[in-house]
Amino acid sequence: MTEPLVLGIETSCDETGVGVVRGHTLLADALASSVDEHARFGGVVPEVASRAHLEAIVPTMQRALDDAGVTLADIDAIAVTAGPGLAGALLVGVAAAKGYALAAEKPIYGVNHLAAHVAVDTLEHGPLPEPAIALLVSGGHSSLLLVDDLAAGVTPLGATIDDAAGEAFDKVARLLGLPFPGGPPIDRAAREGDGESIVFPRGLTAPKDLARHRFDFSFSGLKTAVARWVEARERAGEPVPVAHVAASFQEAVCDVLTNKAIDACRERGVETLVIGGGVAANSRLRALAEERCAKYGITVRVPRPKLCTDNGAMVAALGSHLVAAGVAPSRLNLPADSAMPLTVVSV
Ligand code: KG4
Ligand code: ZN
Repeated sequence: MTEPLVLGIETSCDETGVGVVRGHTLLADALASSVDEHARFGGVVPEVASRAHLEAIVPTMQRALDDAGVTLADIDAIAVTAGPGLAGALLVGVAAAKGYALAAEKPIYGVNHLAAHVAVDTLEHGPLPEPAIALLVSGGHSSLLLVDDLAAGVTPLGATIDDAAGEAFDKVARLLGLPFPGGPPIDRAAREGDGESIVFPRGLTAPKDLARHRFDFSFSGLKTAVARWVEARERAGEPVPVAHVAASFQEAVCDVLTNKAIDACRERGVETLVIGGGVAANSRLRALAEERCAKYGITVRVPRPKLCTDNGAMVAALGSHLVAAGVAPSRLNLPADSAMPLTVVSV
């Protein structure tokens, strides 16, 4: 049997993405972003995002089909992000997916955005060995998960107790006068700085915290520490060494993320670490994970940066995995669920 041809639709935040995959092979990854419309607000404005999805969804869909050289009739299944995400934004994708599924008489899979961030790696590195530990770091989430069977569900081991890693990048960028979203400009600025020049706190790594929060994260104390440090410089009338602050902040985040991920792998006796979500695009996180995992014989899998940030291909990749695993499709009246729990892979 030929592998399933699956189309994936992503509209949970500010990227309208439509991807097409055959099995683990990426055929198209069309993207329209409303990020520029949010930049002056310093964060994604839900209403603006929803409207932009509405305008972009049909042309992005057409572009994905054209790029893949297929028609809707050729598609075996349509996958769509059902949650978590912005309610109005999710609704646009779910409604569009239902319309296409109904019109073309195709099965539909409402899937979890976070599980899709894990599944996307299969497009680059092939089937994911299970069990694996997944480190999921995006603008809205930072979690460590045990992936026993991605089609059936994942087991959360820990998560951030305050800000997500990406959120910390965005907030620190803002206080350094760097544009939104903050991850890419901090990544770039940090290349000119010394990550050891300023020692910022590593949240939830003290022995007393590890007892209760071994696999949890906290980034809000770090963000505050950076803010205090910058304010002190400004009060003293001294210039802020942006590159050093960016590099030292980034080092603190990457240090904690990699150490906790490796600890989870070792505690569970797991030899594969997969990193997903927008922050997985970070060059220091990728390098440090490689370097540290090598010491423990852990294989790190991180998709290329373009697949780490939100896109439609990741949704198609998860859909393809579900079809191959024989998971039943969703009902056509599937809901969009802005608070969809991590443990639910498809609805
Ligand atoms: O996964 P994603 O595209 O959207 C969500 O589901 O949230 O993640 C977006 C987040 C933003 O906070 C952005 O600043 C961060 O990923 N990000 C990065 C980098 N590229 C994107 N953070 C650090 N370094 C990067 N290179
Ligand atoms: Zn995401």
